[in-house]
Amino acid sequence: MSDQQKVDDLDEDAARAELERLARRLAEANRAYHRDDAPVMSDAEFDALRARNAAIEARFPALRRDDSPSRQVGAAPAEGFGKIRHEVRMLSLENAFEADDVAEFVARIRRYLGLPAEAPLAFTAEPKIDGLSLSLRYEGGVLVQAATRGDGETGENVTENARTITDIPARLRGAPDLLPDLLPDLLPDLLEVRGEVYMSHADFAALNERQAGAGAKTFANPRNAAAGSLRQLDPAITAARPLRFFAYGWGKLSAPLADSQSGALSRLAELGFATNPEMRRCEGLDAMLATYRAIEQRRATLGYDIDGVVYKLDDLALQDRLGFRSTTPRWAIAHKFPAELAWTRLRAIDIQVGRTGALSPVARLDPVTVGGVVVSNATLHNEDYIAGRDAKGAPIREGRDIRPGDWVQVYRAGDVIPKIADVDLSRRKNDAQVYVFPQECPECGSPALREPGDAVRRCTGGLICPAQAVERLKHFVSRAAFDIEGLGAKQVEAFWRDGWIREPADIFTLQERYGSGLKQLKNREGWGAKSAENLFAAIAEKRRIPLNRLIFALGIRHVGEAAAQLLASHYATWPAFEAAVTAAAPDTPEREDLLSIDGVGAVMAASLTQAFANPAERASIDRLVAHLEVEPVRRRAPVESPVAGKTVVFTGTLERMTRAEAKARAEALGAKVAGSVSARTDLLVAGPGAGSKAKKAAELGIETLDEDGWLALIGAG
Ligand code: IVH
Repeated sequence: MSDQQKVDDLDEDAARAELERLARRLAEANRAYHRDDAPVMSDAEFDALRARNAAIEARFPALRRDDSPSRQVGAAPAEGFGKIRHEVRMLSLENAFEADDVAEFVARIRRYLGLPAEAPLAFTAEPKIDGLSLSLRYEGGVLVQAATRGDGETGENVTENARTITDIPARLRGAPDLLPDLLPDLLPDLLEVRGEVYMSHADFAALNERQAGAGAKTFANPRNAAAGSLRQLDPAITAARPLRFFAYGWGKLSAPLADSQSGALSRLAELGFATNPEMRRCEGLDAMLATYRAIEQRRATLGYDIDGVVYKLDDLALQDRLGFRSTTPRWAIAHKFPAELAWTRLRAIDIQVGRTGALSPVARLDPVTVGGVVVSNATLHNEDYIAGRDAKGAPIREGRDIRPGDWVQVYRAGDVIPKIADVDLSRRKNDAQVYVFPQECPECGSPALREPGDAVRRCTGGLICPAQAVERLKHFVSRAAFDIEGLGAKQVEAFWRDGWIREPADIFTLQERYGSGLKQLKNREGWGAKSAENLFAAIAEKRRIPLNRLIFALGIRHVGEAAAQLLASHYATWPAFEAAVTAAAPDTPEREDLLSIDGVGAVMAASLTQAFANPAERASIDRLVAHLEVEPVRRRAPVESPVAGKTVVFTGTLERMTRAEAKARAEALGAKVAGSVSARTDLLVAGPGAGSKAKKAAELGIETLDEDGWLALIGAG
């Protein structure tokens, strides 16, 4: 049977015949499954045939048939990778761009730990690899699972693909072949190794040459090539793409690897991992910056892309004390290399209308390569930026404005959207016209206004503006909001265009309206019985939604992910949140309570009350919530401490710690930290220069401590 013949052994004629056979068999299986409800093969068999088809196409891209199963969307059984929840979250790094930022990072750590400036403090410095992170799980010394980072909480299961990477040991060095319970003491039972998958420059060039020769898609840069190769459904394709891996850290461990970062890396190297040979242990800031410069100098000769240097505090006990902010560790920072620049011509300025009505100018550029990526669009921020002034009216670019037809300098800093830094007036045509920013929404024609103090001009059309409505829906289904599998920006746009979905509530009646009857989702182009069923199931699954996600999903201006989390923790349930925000008109106790949340200011509070007071918006929210079961916030297990459950306010200058550190510590001890004093405050910690808050606390008879008193109270004095 040709099924047995290895893809690598096929010649072109055999491949062509095999692709034809697979197209026929899969089409037959599809019909049997979808039309006749009488499957002729198992899902696994079906998947295997599709994978074989994909592998042959990857080797012979020119032979890909018009009726290839790989061109068919939606008709196949669920494909893609399984999900894996990371036991220890995969975080990202704070960025530093200047030496000063690094100095501040070191100083902050000293302050946080209460270390004097002269106490020695060592860091590791190593290249920041421009690839994608991967978490490898070893049980009993054997690789059992590999997961991508995903959103940090949940990644994709790419175990089979990871097994094809030679830098990744299938078995830790020293692990016995048999009887894992005879594990030598030296090997941890459980070890999650984290690191970066990347592709070398040489391998990238060779891959692109092969792809181009075969008429297949080429990759923009090694990072994209590595990501595309790791996330192949067919491990055979991954195996054919030369990926590399550097280990730089760890997740869950059954026993510590060492007591220092550098020691742990040596240990990982002993266990069989590739670790970066450029890593240095540095005693203090000067040595760190010297290593940064040395690595930057060697950057072009390393043979792989790096985009900065990562510093990590070497002492693991101190790392532990410092802990984490919401998405980044306090003990590490990425010192990025300066952004790359390129000159190109600005063809035109287009206006995009966003979710909150913001009119955003977008530069359409002659394509140009910046830092390995072809750029043809860049943001121009707002009308002032185009005119050559900042939000306060002061000149930027020495007042040079930007006009269509100009030569402009484009830069990219990290993953962010490209920006325009400067304009070359010597190349400006005499007849270049000053750009006039529109005063009306280009999408709905409503007046576009600028409020005092706002750099942005906004469409006043609200929900009648189609651009705003669609953008809000896209936001609603986005990853940090409802995250509905199979319902992304593309699908939302298509459903909106056809009037199937006009507001979030419509998503939850989609099945009722298009699950049966004359017009059905499964008959839409690009959909089938299986994918329609999957979407309905994915939607049903999200009827139960955590409060913070719902608040964020509403897309209220100024209420981002972090604010949504704060609001959810404060109010705990939807009814409590809704009632409070509805009642929180200016000068009410509800408004005061809202403002007492540290991180909620006057602007956000006004935006929240406005949204809930607008009849159309409110009706739309009510229609949505009628379909949902909102999960209340689970309270963390109470911590035992003298300040647990107390509401604390910090004011004035703190001398032994920063405000952020004080807050983090108080919260870790179970206290609630508020931004303003109210009748609910239990304790005010007042440093020198405390003003109105101290006065108010005195009036309300609230206990007040100085910084030393506070530290003594929490046992840190
Ligand atoms: S340490 C707790 N070290 O950079 C976070 N990350 O911006 C630990 N990366 O997602 C990350 N090289 O994918 C670390 N030497 C290195 C790195 C590195 C590249 C990536 C990693 C991470 C991202 C954070």
